Amino acid sequence: MRSGPPVRDALAAATDALQAAGCETPRLDAELLVAAALGTDRGRLVLDAERPISPTASRTLMEWIRRRARREPVAYILGRKGFRRIELLVDRRVLIPRPETELLVELAGELAPEGAAVHEVGTGSGAVALALAEERPDLHVSASDASAEAVAVALINRERTNVEVEIEVAVDLPSARRGVDLVLANLPYVRAGDWAGLAPEITGFEPRSALVAGEDGLDAIRGLIASSEAGMLVALEHGSEQGPAVRALLEDPRTAPDLAGRDRVTVGRVG
Ligand SMILES: C[S@@+](CC[C@H](N)C(=O)[O-])C[C@H]1O[C@@H](n2cnc3c(N)ncnc32)[C@H](O)[C@@H]1O
Repeated sequence: MRSGPPVRDALAAATDALQAAGCETPRLDAELLVAAALGTDRGRLVLDAERPISPTASRTLMEWIRRRARREPVAYILGRKGFRRIELLVDRRVLIPRPETELLVELAGELAPEGAAVHEVGTGSGAVALALAEERPDLHVSASDASAEAVAVALINRERTNVEVEIEVAVDLPSARRGVDLVLANLPYVRAGDWAGLAPEITGFEPRSALVAGEDGLDAIRGLIASSEAGMLVALEHGSEQGPAVRALLEDPRTAPDLAGRDRVTVGRVG
């Protein structure tokens, strides 16, 4: 059986192809795809630089590079994304969990007292609820999403991560969860007019309904607040320019910045 090119050459060719296609991080993407095609991790690529790639792995890699060059996100190509300490199945039914959303899990961990009931609205892949339940087994975590397709993915991820989270299909806060101690949400917050200007990885592949929320981007957040009872503690992720608008919707609000120092999650009580 003929062997394919060595890892070093495959990496160089993949990087060039992705750069030419306009990908923002061509070398990183190439490393992730080459490593996955070889069934290894990125760290080993330097050590394996001279190792020839098998014809099967080479064919898989070529197909993945072709898809990435059309700007499909790496996470959808590989069907997985790491978040906190868990790995999630992701596909086009759900938003790819973003690193900045880890802040919501961190804050929830700080805000929720021992044994508290926490509900996440708009769970998508289940990232926030599952990561929180994995890190804080003392909590009673539940989650919901308006999309039945997203809930199907979250249920697969619950199986995979083996943590206890009740997950259901519901728009806004399910009435049975109105008594929980804390509500978390990373709901859509992109303004409708901004959608077309987003990266092709987003507009061509991710569900628009997971990202866009009306003219000012706050429709979903307002809907959640309207469905919650007065006094309820909520932690809401939002866009970096939406801090003042979200604070105005809550009582005793405070906004936590992300690692770049931008407004990211506002915590407060429903008025
Ligand atoms: C920005 S995505 C976040 C997904 C996940 N929480 C994460 O951080 O990766 C927003 C999610 O909210 C869901 N959603 C949108 N409007 C909703 C609503 N009114 N009630 C419940 N879920 C909603 C979407 O289907 C989508 O899965």
